[in-house]
Amino acid sequence: MDDTTGPFRVSRRTVLEGTAALAVLGSVAPEAARAATPAAPGRDASSSVRVPVTLNVNGLDHALELDPRTTLLDALREHIGLTGSKKGCDHGQCGACTVLVDGRRINSCLSLAAMHEGDRVQTIEGFAEGAALHPIQAAFVHHDGFQCGYCTPGQICSSIGMLAEAKAGMPSVVTADLSGAPRLSDVEIRERMSGNICRCAAYPNIVAAIKDGGGVGPDGEIAL
Ligand code: FES
Ligand code: FES
Repeated sequence: MDDTTGPFRVSRRTVLEGTAALAVLGSVAPEAARAATPAAPGRDASSSVRVPVTLNVNGLDHALELDPRTTLLDALREHIGLTGSKKGCDHGQCGACTVLVDGRRINSCLSLAAMHEGDRVQTIEGFAEGAALHPIQAAFVHHDGFQCGYCTPGQICSSIGMLAEAKAGMPSVVTADLSGAPRLSDVEIRERMSGNICRCAAYPNIVAAIKDGGGVGPDGEIAL
């Protein structure tokens, strides 16, 4: 029932007009915004300047000519065609774009491709050996460590990097004992993976997959 007498004077007509306006703005506003807003850094259309960059990705060299502001994520997805790494936020907040660079996990949306000449980049496409999945990949499948799957490439890359960090003895902010052998309790895993957001909230299964695929024992001991 319409309420045209209250302080907000909401009526069905008001709501329908507003909804229609939103629908129109949804298709029209982005075009207007693009016309009025300078292109964001890192997009090829914004500059004619190109620099030669050779990226080693999953063991293969790729000789590219890039706008120097191109992010590593855009280089992977738009120039090399490796679309496994996902763009969730493009601001370093979700972890969907996580890749390994020289074995360390990074947010590829926050790093310029031109900085990685000579580095060894690993993406989700590079972990399986032919038809054999990486143990972490297989464990994510076995434990249903995903629902929509959008965050999963980043979760898996981050898991592999995180396990290497833990085995190397790198502590987290919740590590209580800095002198003993590294252990990965559920709390440790959750803290160390906190940069990877899952909107489907598959977190319990992700933790289970990491423990199984990473060879983490019942007391958090890691097979080194
Ligand atoms: S897309 Fe890089 S952190 Fe979200
Ligand atoms: S599985 Fe959907 S966002 Fe993680």
